[in-house]
Amino acid sequence: MKKILLATLLLLPSLTWISAAEVTYEMEPFAGDLENLPSLQNGMRLYMNYCIGCHSLEYQRYEQTVDYLGIPHDIALENLVFTGQKIGELMTTAMAEEKAKNWFGAAPPDLTLITRAKSAQYVYNYLKTFYVDESRPFGVNNKVFPNVGMPNVLVQLQGIQHSPCGSQEHCSDLILEEDSGLYSAAQFDTAAYDLANFLYYVGDPSRLERHRIGIFVLLFLVILGCFTYLLNREYWKDIH
Ligand code: HEC
Repeated sequence: MKKILLATLLLLPSLTWISAAEVTYEMEPFAGDLENLPSLQNGMRLYMNYCIGCHSLEYQRYEQTVDYLGIPHDIALENLVFTGQKIGELMTTAMAEEKAKNWFGAAPPDLTLITRAKSAQYVYNYLKTFYVDESRPFGVNNKVFPNVGMPNVLVQLQGIQHSPCGSQEHCSDLILEEDSGLYSAAQFDTAAYDLANFLYYVGDPSRLERHRIGIFVLLFLVILGCFTYLLNREYWKDIH
């Protein structure tokens, strides 16, 4: 037993080292907000325009999503669903996986659970850190996913970024070419935040409801505890 404990203690620092080594880029903080419906709505809008063409959300249905986000079904079908799918259907992509693999070298993964597998902070930073790298097939590289196979699909909005220190690790400098994007830096930050927030919601759609129910469950337990205590006193009253 002692040996196991010792081995665990010795291993702990190396484990943290391994997970820290995955991403050497110093990521900006991110805090999801599932009550911010305008942010989630904008995230879904951006996702349906820029991402679903390649990345499915195959564990999520349109209906459940738009109901949570407070978007009426007819408006959603008209403005957000471009594949002619029905409201009850899963949010799949029309792109064939085999073809995608040929085009990009790696098939675009389903993103339903990406914020659970990695984190919403990772997605947020990933979207913000594409930079020009002519040695890559699509002319771009990424700070948190080095040598990524994805083109920079938001370049029109963000503009063109350069990394003065190349793809060196531990280097977070990124310089934006002035007026090369439709959005200002702050607007693009919001767009990346909203997309990451939307994927944060999709990764665990009932998180907020679970937290609400959790409070009631705790309250119930406290009240039950009081009654149990009183009942216990009643039972023992005649014995003492
Ligand atoms: C043209 C197709 C295409 C579009 C559009 C696209 N992606 Fe990707 N994406 C890819 C490919 C291909 C990969 C896999 C890259 C690899 O493994 O090297 C990828 C990878 C990713 C990853 C990393 C997954 C991981 O395992 O770490 C994230 C996150 C991601 N995409 C998010 C998005 C978001 C958000 C959008 C919309 C703004 C988007 N993508 C639009 C093709 C696309």
